[in-house]
Amino acid sequence: MAAIEIRGLRKSYGDVEAVRGIDLSVSEGEVFALLGPNGAGKTTTVEILEGFRSRDGGEVAVLGHDPSSRSRRLRSRMGIVLQSTGIDPYLTVAETIDLYRAYYPHPRPVDEIVDVVGLREKRNSKVSKLSGGQQRRLDVAIALAGDPELLFLDEPTTGFDPSARRNAWEVVKNLAGLGKTVFLTTHYMDEAQYLASRVAVIAAGEIVAEGPPSSLGGRDTAATVIRFRLSEGPQLPETLRASATRSNGMMELRTQDPTRTLHDLTGWALERNVPLEGLDVTRPSLEEVYLDLTGGEAGREES
Ligand SMILES: Nc1ncnc2c1ncn2[C@@H]1O[C@H](COP(=O)(O)OP(=O)(O)OP(=O)(O)O)[C@@H](O)[C@H]1O
Ligand SMILES: [Mg+2]
Repeated sequence: MAAIEIRGLRKSYGDVEAVRGIDLSVSEGEVFALLGPNGAGKTTTVEILEGFRSRDGGEVAVLGHDPSSRSRRLRSRMGIVLQSTGIDPYLTVAETIDLYRAYYPHPRPVDEIVDVVGLREKRNSKVSKLSGGQQRRLDVAIALAGDPELLFLDEPTTGFDPSARRNAWEVVKNLAGLGKTVFLTTHYMDEAQYLASRVAVIAAGEIVAEGPPSSLGGRDTAATVIRFRLSEGPQLPETLRASATRSNGMMELRTQDPTRTLHDLTGWALERNVPLEGLDVTRPSLEEVYLDLTGGEAGREES
């Protein structure tokens, strides 16, 4: 059974069409990432799934139920980490988790929760004494209090330092290891790549691509680009010239058969004693594919 099933979901705020008829399906036990620029419709989608926002059209099933019914039973099977939360700063970590456990029929033991999120040492610290990253982990701990089957994480690592992000990733991996379904949103391509078995890219309220991170947007079949600096003198052999372009003193070869092309190129270079300065072989990164899909040019590396 699918943990989440979305068909033709639509939501507008006045004349802003935030979500324009999206379809998505997330399997049980899957870590699924929804990627997209600011204002793309991620939080709107997540909050409709959580039952916090109403929808204008389409069908939604979360763990087999319509979240708009706001059933307590469904609510107790989901864990939610909002984009921002308010927690009592004078309680300790353990007290805070315990407070939330009380809402659920089958809560998870506090000690297990602090272990999963890596807050064991801070178990008896006041919330006010936690760092930003540790507070975010506490947000995840709260979401785990009721031992949910399904977790929603809306931008779980925004504002984290690199090591805190790595720690948060381990938390999500641990959750996946426990068999939980995780639905997360993120702006970070490396995060999606590391955590998710499947991603969808949303732009201006529409899904523009969906699939495993390794093959999103045709990444796996896209041409490999080989770049190197070549002085004006030597002429590339006939077989390579057809796929070559020159820009800013760099030669660029595009190939579907990088093994053969590199063999031909380096063989020729060694034979003629031609240095291939700055030789570089690249496939399109998830970030490049994402920027192509979302029409964002900002931040793209010129090379
Ligand atoms: N409560 C609201 N009232 C009016 N417009 C809203 C409301 N919430 C969101 N919007 C608009 O809907 C669109 C989608 O917003 P949403 O919060 O879903 O985007 P997002 O993908 O989560 O963005 P971000 O990456 O910045 O968190 C935006 O244009 C936003 O301004
Ligand atoms: Mg958002």
